[in-house]
Amino acid sequence: MIQIAVLGYGTVGSGVVEVIETNQESINKKAGQEINIKYVLDLRDFPGNPIQEKIVHDYEVIANDPEIQIVVEVMGGVEPAYTFVKRALESGRCVCTSNKELVAKHGPELMAIAQEKHCNFLFEASCGGGIPIIRPLNSSLTADVLDEVSGILNGTTNYILSKMESDGSSFEAALKDAQERGYAERNPEADVEGYDACRKIAILSSLAFGHHVDYEDIYTEGITKITASDIKCAKVLGYRIKLVATCKQVKDQYYTMVCPVMVDGEDPLYGVNDVFNAIFVHGNMLGDAMFYGSGAGKRPTASAVVADVVDAAKHLNCTVMQKWSSQKLNLMDVSQVTHRYFVRMEGSLTRDIDQVESVFGQVRPAGVPDLSQEFCFVTKPMTEKEYEEKAAKFGTILNRIRVR
Ligand code: HSE
Repeated sequence: MIQIAVLGYGTVGSGVVEVIETNQESINKKAGQEINIKYVLDLRDFPGNPIQEKIVHDYEVIANDPEIQIVVEVMGGVEPAYTFVKRALESGRCVCTSNKELVAKHGPELMAIAQEKHCNFLFEASCGGGIPIIRPLNSSLTADVLDEVSGILNGTTNYILSKMESDGSSFEAALKDAQERGYAERNPEADVEGYDACRKIAILSSLAFGHHVDYEDIYTEGITKITASDIKCAKVLGYRIKLVATCKQVKDQYYTMVCPVMVDGEDPLYGVNDVFNAIFVHGNMLGDAMFYGSGAGKRPTASAVVADVVDAAKHLNCTVMQKWSSQKLNLMDVSQVTHRYFVRMEGSLTRDIDQVESVFGQVRPAGVPDLSQEFCFVTKPMTEKEYEEKAAKFGTILNRIRVR
């Protein structure tokens, strides 16, 4: 029997207990032995809930129990999770976590400790909820040299943008709807400002390219400035707006960005709607692959955590995760990244198009019947720096969105 401790009885923690209880027989068969939750660490008590008999309030109880072989960290946030996880790994215990803040900030260090102590630090649930992506990057795609990993990594913002598109809602109304459905937190900043997706692409690109991508070095723009007018224009031009996190190789450098982008019907991310997530990977032998599914929520996330527990149980004395080097990936300056740009401008298409084309060169223009005082266009490809220089010549630009 393998004894495990779960740190945190919140949404994911209670999901982990539910998954282990519901699928006990099949999980034990796959692990090769019985998995038993001995402790659940939480500050709160749960009177009347059967979990109460496993609740402990002091981490020392877990740290001092030699029977505990696997620690599941689902508390979220960097501290005290980091201290608990580091201590667990240093004592040779495996750790399985869903905590993207922890992995993005301390991943290389914690993986190195796991390797030194011949145990495992596993974090499948930190990116894409229930979608398998960490394990494929770590083991299934090792024959390839990857040059892109990108995707829709945040369910809340994808829901908000899909809602704005399907019924013409404003950002504020769609956010309120997402909060009422329990997708968005009361403080939605980490989702809508792109910080959550930023941490996830930092993890995925570090694994895909083997060198550390510091989330603080990633250009990050959220969706708070996207308006119902932008969505109308996107529709006229045949696009949808998605919050996409990208890490892509350009010659011998990489760029990484999180920002809203326009995607057309040919793009595999076009059909990824509502709370779903998708991660697109391109390899030199594989070509394209996309991993799609439930990117958030209690059960999908807990399912990924428990799959890591099974993996840890099967590999108790050897490390299965590849190390990611603490040496930083060579990131290019975002000002040198090339895109086409969608621009929404005040004015009249017939009156102002000549001036627009005298600055931007030939563009793809469109008028939108509902927006009589505005028009929009898509530029040819240019660097961010070139775009900024040209855009500075106009005082009438209402918004610009990159085109994928
Ligand atoms: N807030 C995240 C999302 C939860 O909406 O995708 C999963 O990490």
